[in-house]
Amino acid sequence: MEEILEKLKQEIKEIHNLESLKKVKAAYLGKKGCITKLLKNISTLSAEKRKNYGEKVNRLKREAEKIFSQKSESIKKEIENLSLEREKLDITLPGRRYAKGSLHPLSIVLREIEDIFEGLNFSIEEGPEIEYELYNFDMLNMPKEHPARDMHDTFYIDEGMLLRTHTSPVQIRVLKEKVPPLMFISPGKVYRRDADISHSPMFHQVEGMIVDKKLSFSHLKGIMTVFLRKFFGEETELRFRPSYFPFTEPSAEVDIQCIVCKGNGCRLCSYTGFLEILGCGVVHPNVFKAAGYDPEIWKGLAFGMGVERMAMLKYGIDDIRLFFENDYRFLKNFSLTAVT
Ligand code: DAH
Repeated sequence: MEEILEKLKQEIKEIHNLESLKKVKAAYLGKKGCITKLLKNISTLSAEKRKNYGEKVNRLKREAEKIFSQKSESIKKEIENLSLEREKLDITLPGRRYAKGSLHPLSIVLREIEDIFEGLNFSIEEGPEIEYELYNFDMLNMPKEHPARDMHDTFYIDEGMLLRTHTSPVQIRVLKEKVPPLMFISPGKVYRRDADISHSPMFHQVEGMIVDKKLSFSHLKGIMTVFLRKFFGEETELRFRPSYFPFTEPSAEVDIQCIVCKGNGCRLCSYTGFLEILGCGVVHPNVFKAAGYDPEIWKGLAFGMGVERMAMLKYGIDDIRLFFENDYRFLKNFSLTAVT
């Protein structure tokens, strides 16, 4: 028995994996193992020899089992240490960066417009995209047969309802709901049956309105100048041109100096040196009357601009459809961190 134990200890020293350990264990403690054989002998012995022999063999068995389990533990530890060594991490290596999402260029421009007007103390109002024909046209001084309606290629929905063709009907809604003095802008989607490189059936406008007792065209000119210079740069040259809108009188269109040729004349500005950027004017008395205001008491200033056009001119984008195709190569130009 001593010899068996000695031999077992020797044999086990060379072993470094669980597979081999299992084989050796079987040779000692398995069904046909040498220690198992010794155990089986117990029953063949006489009663007096049996006790002494039995104790010894069982001790041997326990001893062997202990050796095997210790060895098995130490092999497991060895394997673990090896794999820790192999899988060592270099925590000083830079991590993998995930691409950050970015705002859509129209959202960037819209937020910038809103920021500038909020800085001038304008509030923000919203109106529905499905609008009454009455608010979209009639109450804005465009009765049924008014020729200006032709310029708005309208999507009619139902009797008296349409997809708003501009954000101007929000003027009517706010006039009806709020108490003056008023000073708000109203950004949102508008719809027209039109599609080419500079027209999209859905696009965005920002409407603006100021209502108070003492207002003049010079206030409008001042606010438009501050806004456009903040948006396009302080050096931007502006031009106020007389124009016509049914809901304002007098009306003007504002041009900025061409962003491409800086006023020298090029294809973009049709060699005029200027680009039309927004419409504005003094609120027409008929609009006030329609909303239940006395035009002798209240004065109003209004303006409206296209957000896509502002974005196209600011970023030099020459096709409006790029905003709506969601081509990743286009969008990633507006990411704050480069998307890889
Ligand atoms: N609603 C006009 C359009 O869609 C834009 C506009 C022009 C709005 C002059 C105004 C304004 O409030 O005063 O073309």
